[in-house]
Amino acid sequence: MTSNSSKNMERKRCNLLPKFLLMLVLAFDIFSIVYANSDQPVTYIVHLNVPDGVTFDKPEDRQSWYQSFLMASSRGSNVIPSLIHAYHNVFTGFAAKLTADQVKAMESMDGFVSARPESVYKLHTTHTPTFLGLHQNLGVWRGSNYGKGIVIGVLDTGITPGHPSFDDKGVPPPPAKWKGKCKVSGCNNKLIGARDFVSSGSSGSPLDDEGHGTHTSSTAGGNFVDGANVFGMAKGTAAGMAPLAHVAMYKVCDSFGCPSSAILAGMDAAIEEGVDVLSLSLGGPSVPFYEDGIAVGAFSAIQRGIFVSCSAGNSGPFNTTLSNEAPWILTVGASTVDRNIRSTVYLGNKDLLDGESLFQPKDFPQKYLPLVYPGLNHGQDAAWCGPGSLKGIDVKGKVVVCDRGGDIARIAKGQTVKDAGGAAMILANEPVDGDTTEADAHVLPASHVASDVGFTIKRYINSTSSPVATLIFRGTVIGVDSAPAVASFSSRGPSMTSPGIVKPDIIGPGVSILAAWPISVENSTQTKATFNMISGTSMSCPHLSGISALLKSAHPDWSPAAIKSAIMTTAGKLSLSGYPIEDERDQPASIFAIGSGQVNPTKANDPGLIFDIQPNDYVPYLCGLGYTSKQVGVIVQKRVTCTKAIPEAQLNYPSFAVTLGAADVKSYTRTVTNVGVANSTYTPTNVSIPIGLVLEISPAKLIFSKLNQKLTYTTTFIRDKKATVKAPYGEGYLTWSSGKHSVRTPFSIKFV
Ligand SMILES: *[C@@H]1O[C@H](CO)[C@@H](O)[C@H](O)[C@H]1NC(C)=O
Ligand SMILES: *[C@@H]1O[C@H](CO)[C@@H](O)[C@H](O)[C@H]1NC(C)=O
Ligand SMILES: *[C@@H]1O[C@H](CO)[C@@H](O)[C@H](O)[C@H]1NC(C)=O
Ligand SMILES: *[C@@H]1O[C@H](CO)[C@@H](O)[C@H](O)[C@H]1NC(C)=O
Ligand SMILES: *[C@@H]1O[C@H](CO)[C@@H](O)[C@H](O)[C@H]1NC(C)=O
Repeated sequence: MTSNSSKNMERKRCNLLPKFLLMLVLAFDIFSIVYANSDQPVTYIVHLNVPDGVTFDKPEDRQSWYQSFLMASSRGSNVIPSLIHAYHNVFTGFAAKLTADQVKAMESMDGFVSARPESVYKLHTTHTPTFLGLHQNLGVWRGSNYGKGIVIGVLDTGITPGHPSFDDKGVPPPPAKWKGKCKVSGCNNKLIGARDFVSSGSSGSPLDDEGHGTHTSSTAGGNFVDGANVFGMAKGTAAGMAPLAHVAMYKVCDSFGCPSSAILAGMDAAIEEGVDVLSLSLGGPSVPFYEDGIAVGAFSAIQRGIFVSCSAGNSGPFNTTLSNEAPWILTVGASTVDRNIRSTVYLGNKDLLDGESLFQPKDFPQKYLPLVYPGLNHGQDAAWCGPGSLKGIDVKGKVVVCDRGGDIARIAKGQTVKDAGGAAMILANEPVDGDTTEADAHVLPASHVASDVGFTIKRYINSTSSPVATLIFRGTVIGVDSAPAVASFSSRGPSMTSPGIVKPDIIGPGVSILAAWPISVENSTQTKATFNMISGTSMSCPHLSGISALLKSAHPDWSPAAIKSAIMTTAGKLSLSGYPIEDERDQPASIFAIGSGQVNPTKANDPGLIFDIQPNDYVPYLCGLGYTSKQVGVIVQKRVTCTKAIPEAQLNYPSFAVTLGAADVKSYTRTVTNVGVANSTYTPTNVSIPIGLVLEISPAKLIFSKLNQKLTYTTTFIRDKKATVKAPYGEGYLTWSSGKHSVRTPFSIKFV
């Protein structure tokens, strides 16, 4: 992370990991002890198991026990490594700076389980409530009391107390169970906790120097703020998804990223203090769950009924690029909103081509200016408008076309053009970005255009000896009916760690999201009530965190898996145009891009049936992944013997990912709980089946006579031997309908 958030967004999109991180990823093999390749001490995460018969009366006793490992590690030397974080809730263990030799010295201690160097994870709105069907005094917002009484814990870059989004008007005092701490002035009934875990010694400030954490927190639980806008655009009432919920900030990221020791310490504290929902807009690469700090911490959270919502990652549109794939986590991809901040390119040949920019100067001259594409004659770096690349190229007073990409932030490209004297920038998507454009706070007049529009502009430049263009700023446009569409950057499945579970689970708004920001992005004296518009799955995740807070408030007895099921089985599959939701290529989005579809809070509040999962149900699933008993034990935090294993697709998940060989017949059961109408009968209504598959459902009817009644059915996936399968993957869905409720379970089939 740097101080420029858009830059990060762009970085992550390119999925460039620092080299050392890649090495760690490769080193993360099946071994439970991994040594850092260095004599220098590095931060290790050490997992322990309390030996039988040992109990701790006080947290300090546990800490002393942890200390005994550090003493052993120092082998009698006076220099005892110091504890960075002692964990009590996420798992038994600690973080400490150790050398490989010191780790070796601990291994023989009774209770030692594993140790590995920590990894460093990356950080991956006025209109979205309305777009998602949330309206004041109506429906879910009313039914859930706007999330009153629910605590949303956000792990991020910190927070900005005093911002009007964190005003506590209408917010009741925190619930009695709340034990949180506020280590900053300006906390109130809205912002009820703020702690820092990332600065050394954890004595730093939870203030947000970056903006990311302020933005995500206000998206999840920001209060109503009238007249919110950036540069006068997207003006309206800003509100988080759960505007009267409480927010607690756990600062776990700094300008170097989000160290897993800090993430775990933040989760540990959040669990202890009594949050109801955890929101993590950050993640790392796909690794087995027992090595994945967020997955392990999230398991402890769900065991205590805490819902965990995480971003899917910004490494799309490439396949198998997901973060946060564990089935007990809600994995959230990003979709567009029906709002554009329009900036139209007007070419010399009278073509009008729409693009976007948040910065829309009123005094931009409405006359043609020379149009130039430095990429035509000056090489790749100039095509990307990389820093300094336009030196010696005459762009003064011209409209300059820059290609997206090259690991250079979109806004930084504009700065390069501005520094070289350019009058305006046209930022053209690369083909992989398709038609996902973003309304950024550019530093000069600009228009971000789709890749085919960029192609049209370049063809025009080629067609004439003196190309010209200007930009026409058209402001905020609502009702773009291609929305929601999957954003190009949204990470895609299939899941590498657990290919038998469909991921992502859901998509929600994540493109050009307006929310709170610590400082003004405008060149004005305005210092308060500042907002910014940024994009990423970091922005879609807190939408779902806030929505789950609403559901938790409306249904206090629902488990995390039940809330997840309600969100997934009621998700939408059509855009405003009435056609199936598309991806950035204008193609129907695959199940590995949208999961179950676009979140629909109103329907999620009344799903009819839910697919519930108890924490213990994950044990045979994890054993079925081929993990050893010890590895499963690291995740579920107790001694486990893998006596029973189930295939992944047998977990009671609200979707299926099935692999079918030429002669395969595979049956899986699902158990649904009736949370709709006591007397109701469900039949498979809408069924969509890909070529090559025969589907059998038994029984053909689910007849309920009371609420909370559970019924089990079997879905059998059979390879149709007569059919010729052309694609490696097929997908479809099954909808159970009672007339009043529809419960949709999508599935993917891998034909082998
Ligand atoms: C992802 O996988 C699907 C199905 O195998 C394939 O059609 C698609 O081209 C792949 N996309 C990318 C970007 O590799
Ligand atoms: C424009 O001309 C250049 C050089 O002749 C060529 O490489 C490029 O493909 C052309 N671009 C378009 C969009 O036609
Ligand atoms: C900010 O605005 C002031 C006055 O409006 C102007 O003098 C200054 O050059 C501007 N700064 C930038 C960086 O645009
Ligand atoms: C459900 O139907 C049964 C049998 O028809 C009836 O006795 C019962 O009262 C009904 N329950 C409700 C809640 O309507
Ligand atoms: C079934 O699908 C059709 C067409 O997509 C739709 O109009 C109808 O509402 C669906 N029915 C149910 C019960 O979901």
